[in-house]
Amino acid sequence: MTASDNTIPTALLGWYDRHARGLPWRARPGAPAPDPYRVWLSEIMLQQTTVAAVKPYFEKFTATWPSVEALAAAPEEAVMAAWAGLGYYSRARNLLKAAREVAARGGFPESEAELRQLPGVGDYTAAAIAAIAFGQRAVVVDANVERVVSRLFAIDDPLPRARKAIRAATDTITPAGRAGDFAQAMMDLGSQVCTVRQPQCLLCPLASHCTARTLDPERFPVKPAKKARPVRQGRAFWIVREDAVWLVRRQGSGMLGGMRALPDDGWSARGDGHGEPPLPGEWASRGVVRHGFTHFEIELEVLACAGNNDMPGQGEWWPLERLTEAGLPTLFAKAAQRALAG
Ligand code: ADE
Repeated sequence: MTASDNTIPTALLGWYDRHARGLPWRARPGAPAPDPYRVWLSEIMLQQTTVAAVKPYFEKFTATWPSVEALAAAPEEAVMAAWAGLGYYSRARNLLKAAREVAARGGFPESEAELRQLPGVGDYTAAAIAAIAFGQRAVVVDANVERVVSRLFAIDDPLPRARKAIRAATDTITPAGRAGDFAQAMMDLGSQVCTVRQPQCLLCPLASHCTARTLDPERFPVKPAKKARPVRQGRAFWIVREDAVWLVRRQGSGMLGGMRALPDDGWSARGDGHGEPPLPGEWASRGVVRHGFTHFEIELEVLACAGNNDMPGQGEWWPLERLTEAGLPTLFAKAAQRALAG
């Protein structure tokens, strides 16, 4: 496609005018751009997370912290607790760092290059914010766009090698105007019509331009050979005293760093959970929970014991009746459920 041939973006934007999803962080098609704070927050939350999972978190965050200045002034513990359950917790730590940088400089930068300097903002997110919040032409490629474009042009290199060609092809169809609408139209087309399985080609505004349509669209993008995720073993400790459970805060910026958690045996650092319980006593197994992270799965055995007045290390007695407010990440929420089930 050449710059003078706007057939694909014109067809796509016409479709978006009729079918855009109404989402809480979005402007209607053709309307002025939304608040950059809301665009940035939504894009960070949507990294590796579905729209359905993000919506309630987005509503909670914007109700609690309606501006980037309000978020910048929040204590880290409150932000980490509000993020609990959304996963990939380094996003929450970077979110707060970025909010503080933005508040200190008096607002969001508008160029893709400057946006990319913010903690937690990579190539995709910088391009998405530049296009959606600031109307700048940017080549925005997320997994949905990757699927649409690899099908449109039948790019049959496997991922991740195909990314360069996909990006170049996306560049050729990205128009100069309506940058935010175009980016989000591509995402909507990918999630609503050009789906992973059984794409709805009959409803697609780009069907007549699509090379994969007459081949087998589901074959694109071509996946790399899959590696099995290793399974790690570990133990978490459920220590109860007077209707309260002993919770710790995980250190550092590693796995779940900064989050409240049950004490454990260090499985996350060493990979094999054979560390000793944090205090001597009568430990009883309450069973095993499984949880998947990006690069491994964990089988966490939950061991229970009565606590005492002299607990080692830092922690806090958290009332069992308020456990849902502790902001436990999903792995430890599952472990707590297991322990409470007896
Ligand atoms: N995924 C990432 N960003 C999105 C957006 N702005 N709209 C819909 N899905 C998205």
